[in-house]
Parts: sequence; structure tokens; C-alpha cells
Amino acid sequence: MATSNTHHKLQNCVNRKLKLLFLLVCVFVFLVLSIGYIYLDVMPDYSHKYPKPKMSHAVEDIRYFERFLLSEHDPLDLSFPNSLDNTDLHVNPKHVGSKSLCPNRTKPSHCPSNNKDRCVKISVVGLCGGWATMLRKLPVKISCPAFEKTDIFLDHVGKVEAIKEAHVVLFSFVAKYLDMNVWLKLRFYRSPGQMWVFQTEESPVYARGFMMPWFFRNDTYNISNTYHTSADIPSPYGYYEPFRNENSNPVVNFTQLLKDKTNLIIWICSHCETLQWDRTKFVFDLQRVINVDTFGKCGNLSVCDEKWTTTCNNEIDKRVSTYKFSLAFENSCCEDYVTEKLWHALVIGTVPIVIGPRFENYNKVAPPSSFIHVDQFNSMEHLRDYLEYLDKNDTAYLEYFKWKSLGTVREHSIKEHYQNHLSNDVICSIADQYFQRRSSPNEFKMFDLYGPEWKGTCHHCGKHMWIRNYEHPLDHRRKSKNIWN
Ligand SMILES: *[C@@H]1O[C@H](CO)[C@@H](O)[C@H](O)[C@H]1NC(C)=O
Ligand SMILES: *[C@@H]1O[C@H](CO)[C@@H](O)[C@H](O)[C@H]1NC(C)=O
Ligand SMILES: *[C@@H]1O[C@H](CO)[C@@H](O)[C@H](O)[C@H]1NC(C)=O
Ligand SMILES: *[C@@H]1O[C@H](CO)[C@@H](O)[C@H](O)[C@H]1NC(C)=O
Ligand SMILES: *[C@@H]1O[C@H](CO)[C@@H](O)[C@H](O)[C@H]1NC(C)=O
Ligand SMILES: *[C@@H]1O[C@H](CO)[C@@H](O)[C@H](O)[C@H]1NC(C)=O
Repeated sequence: MATSNTHHKLQNCVNRKLKLLFLLVCVFVFLVLSIGYIYLDVMPDYSHKYPKPKMSHAVEDIRYFERFLLSEHDPLDLSFPNSLDNTDLHVNPKHVGSKSLCPNRTKPSHCPSNNKDRCVKISVVGLCGGWATMLRKLPVKISCPAFEKTDIFLDHVGKVEAIKEAHVVLFSFVAKYLDMNVWLKLRFYRSPGQMWVFQTEESPVYARGFMMPWFFRNDTYNISNTYHTSADIPSPYGYYEPFRNENSNPVVNFTQLLKDKTNLIIWICSHCETLQWDRTKFVFDLQRVINVDTFGKCGNLSVCDEKWTTTCNNEIDKRVSTYKFSLAFENSCCEDYVTEKLWHALVIGTVPIVIGPRFENYNKVAPPSSFIHVDQFNSMEHLRDYLEYLDKNDTAYLEYFKWKSLGTVREHSIKEHYQNHLSNDVICSIADQYFQRRSSPNEFKMFDLYGPEWKGTCHHCGKHMWIRNYEHPLDHRRKSKNIWN
């Protein structure tokens, strides 16, 4: 009897523990699901663009996104020593490698008083000094085909006070970091209705210079002009254009193409230290399993010394076209951040091997079957095996060039890409957006750099752990403060 009683008690006890355990598991599952739901709600909705990634990857990416998004201090703090006068918006010449050539005026060219209604004054903050001055000689008067009778004045501002004269202010260069003091002054001098435009060709990981303090996120930039497809004014590095006329499709001479390919893999790179992941280490590790020729500052080979000259660029292109594959590794992994590294490889006629945005994102923008995404492979050895297979199987390799008879790739040179922000086309689009917003100011949302449309576009560099292992921790700080070295 006693044993049975004990047995009974024991069973009761076990049952109670089991129930408690079950309850705890339920609470845990509920918490995980609801937190997951809340997080998912914050995630940008890409579903209309491509299928949602599998849950486990999505959760990882969301955590990454969250930490990146909510970090109070800048996790990838790049701030330059801010020894300049705080109100001076000129790029510190030390950081751009040459003397500042900016105009030293507090009162830039005005709209003439007899033409105030038919004139838009656009002031550029920051894009000033060093190489940036090559982009466009300012001040300049522009007329746009869409509104012929309106004059557009474009000029630099050197001092914060000068922005009060402008209808539109462009924040266009990331090298100078604006501190709190400058933000407060800028806001003080912002005239009513003034439109602020965020312009960059860099990814959110790099374009930190004009990142406003968190609590100004809702009332800083009215519009964006970036490479991102959802920007108010998108300026992509390149794009694929299918042929309209089926009969005009060029025939690609595959025999000739193969004859030229005497080398295997090339990597050309001069920015060896990257912020989000260790690109250089990846290439060095790849070199251990397959032959990769490395050119530029991060490698040990060189084609020519005089960079940025046409002759040198042509030589590099000629060299690249002798390689079957080229590594087109972006410095950060953010949606739509597909740079000339991809587009130029495609134009030259080599197969780019990519790391950057997700496979699906490349698939959306690149020509069909034109690239190899590292995240398609379970390990570096699998990647190597596949490249070796393509090297031996010409038929399989040439399938990466079939798109050449279906369409063409349009690209800017890198210089043209930088100049693009101040080109007449973009300035006229900005003016157009200004008129639209001025006539119905409440219809438009602000551009939130901290939101899913900008900072939230960055994610892990792959769904595979072996690729993520190359990512830097989020509090990674560069040894060198100059991200352009
Ligand atoms: C720019 O103006 C300031 C006064 O506002 C003056 O002290 C400085 O010398 C000027 N710099 C140049 C290069 O003219
Ligand atoms: C731009 O945003 C500011 C701050 O939200 C607002 O006051 C201003 O009216 C906006 N300008 C235009 C042209 O939309
Ligand atoms: C700022 O924007 C966020 C996100 O869109 C929103 O949740 C918040 O209410 C806004 N805050 C203000 C003060 O408008
Ligand atoms: C393709 O290139 C090969 C090798 O250069 C050449 O012999 C052949 O005539 C070319 N074919 C055509 C159709 O142009
Ligand atoms: C460049 O470095 C790689 C890897 O260390 C090595 O295998 C290769 O022989 C070097 N090439 C030259 C030309 O020094
Ligand atoms: C070479 O590639 C073609 C096209 O992908 C494929 O059909 C063929 O089986 C491959 N040959 C070998 C030997 O793997």
C-alpha cells in the first residue's frame, strides 16, 4: 500500500512536472512566434519581388537587421577626427587627398529678385573638395526640358548659414561626418518647405557621413537618390536591357570567345579592408583551393600603373577578358547594391562570381544565367568543384553567355556614375520632385535612413554559415579610419 501510494505520489509529481514543462514550452513557443511576428513586421516586404527566404535564414537576417538598425552608437563607426570648424561643411582635404577647391562664400549665387517664382536654387552640401570637384564645375545654371521657363541654379555651400537661401539642399558626399552640432545648425537654418535630398552611390554600411541622429529620422530627408530601385530617384550602376526586336539579336562567336579564355579566375581590387565582411581573406582562402590571379593593391600582380587613364583601363579590360571568371565581390551585402563590378564583368565578357546582395536579388537585375553566386554552394570546395567542372565542360561554361543574344548590359563608367548625381537629368528630376511636393506637401512620405528602405536593406552575406564566417562582428572598427584607402 505504502509503495503504491509513493508510486502514486511520484506519478502525480512527474505529471505535474511534465505539465509545468509543457506549459513552459508553450509559453516559449508563443514568445518566439510573437517576437518573430513582430520582427517580421519590421522587415521590408520583398514578397512581390521574390519568394521569402526560408524561415531560419529570415530570422537570422532579421536579428542582424535589428542589431544594425537599433544600435545606439554607430556599430561601424567611421567618424573622422573632427578637428575642423564645426560649421564648415567642406570635406576635410586631408581625407580626400588634395587641397580643398571649394568656393569660400557664405552667399552663393541667388535667384534674381525679378524671377523668384521661376527659379529654383539647389545647394550642394559636402560634395566639395578634392576629387569631388572634378564632378561638375559649380555654380551652374541649368534649364530642364520639362519646365523651360524655370531657371535652376546649382551651387556648393561652404557654410551652414548659406543653406537658408536654398529651395533644395543636396547632401552628396559621405567622407565628411556631420556631428550633432552641425545637424542642429542645419535644422536651424532650414527654410520652411526646403527639400533635403540624400544622395549616395555607396551602400548603407559605407554611406554614414550624412546619417542623421536617430531622433531626426522622420523630418530630415524628403527624398533619396541612390542606386536602390525604390529610391525616389534611382541611379543604378548598370542594368540589363532585353532586346525588343527579336530579329536584331547578335550571334555570339563562341569559338572565338573560348579561344580568348586562356586563364581561369581574376580578382582586381584596391580596397582591401572592407567593413561588413573580410573580402580579402575570402579570396586568399579561395586561392588555397583553386588558382586565382590577384591584381591591384590587394593582390601581387599589376597590369598598369596609371590608374584612371583610358589606356590603362583598356589594358585591364583586355586582361580580364582572357579569364573565364572574375571575382565581383561587393564591399557590403545590401539589397540592390550591385556595382560596376558585376556590370563591367558582363560587358567585358567574363563570368562574374558574386558575393553581395542575395542570389534572388542578382537574379532580378542581372541578365538570365549570367553569374555564379557563391551562396549557391555548400562549401568553398563545392564552389571549386563547380568552377573546375565548368573549366572542363565548354558547353556548360558557354551557357553563361547565352544572354548575349537576348539583351545587352548598360553601364556607367565609375566616373560617370559619380558625376550622375549632379547631371542635368538628375537635377531636373529633383526639381520635378520639388514642384510635386511643394504643390501637395502632405501626400509624400519622408525618406527614413534608419528604416527598411535604407539601413534595413543590409543583410548577411550568405545563407550559408561558411560564408557568414567571413563577416566582421557588427562592432567591427577599421584599423584605418579612411574607408577609401
Ligand atoms: C574663407 O573665409 C574665411 C572668413 O569667412 C577666411 O578666414 C578664410 O581665410 C577664407 N579662406 C580662403 C581660402 O579664402
Ligand atoms: C521636406 O521635409 C520637411 C520636414 O519634414 C518639411 O517641412 C518640408 O515641407 C518638406 N519639403 C517638401 C518640398 O516636401
Ligand atoms: C517616426 O517614424 C516612425 C517609423 O515610421 C514612426 O513609428 C513614428 O511614429 C514617427 N515619429 C514621429 C514623431 O512622427
Ligand atoms: C568565329 O571565330 C573563329 C575563331 O576566331 C573563326 O575561325 C570563325 O570564322 C568565326 N565564326 C564566325 C561565324 O564569324
Ligand atoms: C601571388 O601570390 C600567390 C599566392 O600567394 C602565389 O601563388 C603567386 O605565385 C604569386 N604570384 C606572383 C606573380 O608573385
Ligand atoms: C557538359 O555540359 C552539358 C551542358 O550542361 C551537359 O549536357 C553535359 O552532360 C556535360 N558533359 C559532361 C561530360 O559532364
